[in-house]
Amino acid sequence: MGAPDDTGCLVNCDTTKFTFAAAIVPILSNNCYSCHATASASGTGGGIILDTYSGVLAQAQNGNLISDLQHNPGSHNMPLGGAQLSECKITQVSKWIAAGAQNN
Ligand code: HEC
Repeated sequence: MGAPDDTGCLVNCDTTKFTFAAAIVPILSNNCYSCHATASASGTGGGIILDTYSGVLAQAQNGNLISDLQHNPGSHNMPLGGAQLSECKITQVSKWIAAGAQNN
C-alpha cells in the first residue's frame, strides 16, 4: 500500500500473498540475485546464496534476512547500495518467515 518502489515488480504487491514461489522468489530475483546468485555469491554476495530455498532458509532462520531488509541497527542493510524495499515486500518476507519459512 503506497509502496514507492514497485518498479520491476512482476506482480502487484499483496501482503495477503506470501508463499515462497509466488512472493519471495520474485522479490529476491528482482533485487538480490544480481549479487546473491549461486554462481556469483562468492564474489559479489559475501558468500550468501539466495537463489536456492536452502540458502534463503538459512538467512531466514538466523534472522539476518528480515533484519537486513528492515535496515535494523547493526544489520547489513540490503539490497546493498540500493533503495530499501517497499514496506509491502518486507511485510511479505516477514509473514513468510513467521509462517515457518516453508518451501511453498
Ligand atoms: C550489490 C550487491 C548486493 C545486493 C544487490 C544485495 N546484497 Fe546482500 N550482501 C552483499 C554483500 C557483499 C554481503 C556481505 C556483507 C558483509 O559480509 O559485509 C551481503 C550479505 C547479505 C546477507 C548476510 C549479511 C548478514 O546480515 O550477516 C543477507 C541476509 C543479504 N545480504 C541479503 C540480501 C537481500 C535479501 C538482498 C535483496 C533484497 C540483497 N542482499 C541484495 C551484496 C549484495
